[in-house]
Amino acid sequence: MEKIIIAIDGYSSCGKSTTAKGVAASLGYAYIDTGAMYRAVTLYFHEKHISLTDPSDIEKALSEINIEFRRNKFGENQVHLNGLNVENEIRKLYVANKVSDVSAIAAVRVALVDQQRKMGQKRGVVMDGRDIASVVFPDAELKVFMTADSTIRAQRRQIELMAKGEMISFEEIIANIEKRDKIDTTRKESPLIQVEDAEIVDTSHMTLDEQIEMVTIMAELTM
Ligand code: C5P
Repeated sequence: MEKIIIAIDGYSSCGKSTTAKGVAASLGYAYIDTGAMYRAVTLYFHEKHISLTDPSDIEKALSEINIEFRRNKFGENQVHLNGLNVENEIRKLYVANKVSDVSAIAAVRVALVDQQRKMGQKRGVVMDGRDIASVVFPDAELKVFMTADSTIRAQRRQIELMAKGEMISFEEIIANIEKRDKIDTTRKESPLIQVEDAEIVDTSHMTLDEQIEMVTIMAELTM
């Protein structure tokens, strides 16, 4: 069977990553979490106090950043920033609160899109993000647009954060989700859009297993 590219875009906390991961596992494909790459850049900018309005500061920082995915002992892809596993750190709220501003910077997008295209050039990948179908792989054989009610998304996010020991109020989480949706959909550089040929999956009333099964079936029908 020919290997394809599966692009999954959508709003924050719809279950994109978990779905993409599950679909990749059931098809034996690679999974690439592009949000993790934007989060890793954000973490670096935060640590180095990079000014988001100083282009030369940004260029210099980007030239110092190396992002790669390495498998842990459970076979899961973990994002590494300059050799350090930052998978846990990038999920924290202080990173989430800044990531959409960092992702709106054109130079950041150019650098990461270039790397993402290289990662997917052999096909056989499931990539999730905001601009995969519109910018990174407009020729992806399967394009999925995921959405869900924002209250349900915030509840799911709160459970995830609690499991990691981060006690954050529901109000703070929903505010972050809605703020990120707004910046992601209205920014000048590669805003989140639903491309014409995307399959829409509303996960508000679906379990993760149902989401994975649905997208896996869509992929199998596309191959
Ligand atoms: O997918 P996740 O919620 O981890 O993404 C974090 C943020 O990274 C998004 O809110 C968005 O601002 C940015 N992002 C992006 N383009 C992508 C993936 C993520 O702008 N392809």
